[in-house]
Amino acid sequence: MRAAVALAGLVSLTGACSSHRSAPKPAHGSGGGSAVAVLPDVPFADLDREQRAQLMRDVVVPALKPRFQAHDPAKHAGFGCATCHGASERFEMPNPALPAIDPRDLTAWHARDVEFMERVVVPEMARLLGRAPDGAGCLACHVRK
Ligand code: HEC
Ligand code: HEC
Repeated sequence: MRAAVALAGLVSLTGACSSHRSAPKPAHGSGGGSAVAVLPDVPFADLDREQRAQLMRDVVVPALKPRFQAHDPAKHAGFGCATCHGASERFEMPNPALPAIDPRDLTAWHARDVEFMERVVVPEMARLLGRAPDGAGCLACHVRK
């Protein structure tokens, strides 16, 4: 409820800053209200940038935030876009701000982290993007070492 009120405030602020004739775009208020713009049922690659961001906001973050936080509550207390995309507003993937990995040699990493990536992050990310289970492998997010 509080989030919805905060979002409504944000939307009206945004509206006030732009031309008074232009209504706020639906995606701006898509925090769970009934006015969420419906995404077309097409592959991720066919969505435009705004729609990709909306899918991230409405689908990817709500699904993966609790998973990352359950894995490591302290590290991921502030889970959000920047957890995967870094500080860049360009949202390019893979993201060089994440640790570079060699998917064929993961011995340097904690097994618990690797398992979480293999068993939760990779299949969930693929599912959320509407792809086959191997459709978002390690190198979808991490650069190769
Ligand atoms: C769990 C990791 C994760 C989180 C969190 C996340 N994203 Fe993404 N995002 C991805 C991945 C992976 C891709 C690339 C998908 C692909 O094409 O393979 C992507 C792609 C994108 C793209 C498309 C970029 C392009 O060049 O086409 C945008 C825009 C985007 N994300 C925005 C966001 C926003 C905004 C948020 C927060 C609301 C967010 N993302 C949160 C993983 C994430
Ligand atoms: C959807 C994006 C995404 C995919 C796919 C992904 N990762 Fe990650 N990975 C992350 C994020 C985000 C973190 C947390 C980074 C942080 O905050 O330190 C992370 C952390 C890690 C870590 C811990 C690094 C550290 O500093 O302790 C390892 C190891 C890792 N990933 C390996 C993998 C492997 C192996 C795969 C493929 C099986 C994979 N990742 C797939 C996004 C991804």
